[in-house]
Amino acid sequence: MTSACDIAWLNDRFLPLAEARVSPLDRGFLFADAVYEVLPVYDGGVYRLEQHLDRLDRSLREIGMAEPMPRERWHSLCGGLVERNGGGNLLLYLQVSRGAEAMRSHVPAATLQPTVFGMASPAEPPSPDPSQRGVACITAGDIRWARCDIKSTALLGNVMLKWRAQDSGAGEALLLRDGHLTEGSSSSAHVVLDDELVSPGLDNTILPGTTREVLHEVAAACGVPVRVAAVGADRLRQASEIVIASAGAGLRAVTQLDGQAVGAGSPGPVFTRLYRAWLEGLAASCTRCAE
Ligand code: PDD
Repeated sequence: MTSACDIAWLNDRFLPLAEARVSPLDRGFLFADAVYEVLPVYDGGVYRLEQHLDRLDRSLREIGMAEPMPRERWHSLCGGLVERNGGGNLLLYLQVSRGAEAMRSHVPAATLQPTVFGMASPAEPPSPDPSQRGVACITAGDIRWARCDIKSTALLGNVMLKWRAQDSGAGEALLLRDGHLTEGSSSSAHVVLDDELVSPGLDNTILPGTTREVLHEVAAACGVPVRVAAVGADRLRQASEIVIASAGAGLRAVTQLDGQAVGAGSPGPVFTRLYRAWLEGLAASCTRCAE
């Protein structure tokens, strides 16, 4: 397994990741009282930077936290992580926890200093070939909490579900709640039905994915109709194609679901159009940040 890059950010400075230390009384550690973002970096440029930082602001607002630092500081933090770790293709991870307390207490003290952490990991450039982008999935009951719209580090449900997928020889679990598709354990999920791309509506059970937004833009640009509507388990199984999307892994075509082929069992024609258009648009959505 590849390891994270050497240089990280903790609170107000860059330092070797191996030297970064957080108190065990940090609420992120004790309660998962923390939110995060994952931002792709392609060829040294941060992809959809403002969209990710807007979502981080939203997550902070939803858990009643103020922004720990102004937007420009996030830009220079991202720029520093990219530059100091050699640029190229990376994944940036940003996390804000509510901070460390003098003792464990469910209700946070009003005076806490948030803990801000950032690191980078090496990433592969996306394959130019859509036919290489297939992934087998399983379905699983959505065992997570009722605020999946917050990008919280409380990911035990997601961890258990992804692990189950891996144990079944699959790459992702598509989650069903009350008989309807919500999303993947670490991706948004979309189906192609009657040549339309159908995405479940955003509500408290779904993370507002940045790549979902990109996917909808790309679909509009290449003439694929998009419909936001509930997707029942039966419709999921009837889909001619299924697409999953995430900042970490880009766009992927689900080629098997619970051991059955989806469509022809390889990335389909709608996915192929969307993937090519997504690749073409990557560079234009990247921002080079100075430290
Ligand atoms: N996860 N839904 C869930 C539960 C996710 O964890 C993710 C991404 C998404 C897609 O969101 P976006 O397109 O903004 O990445 C949807 C990240 C990559 C992670 O936790 O590593």
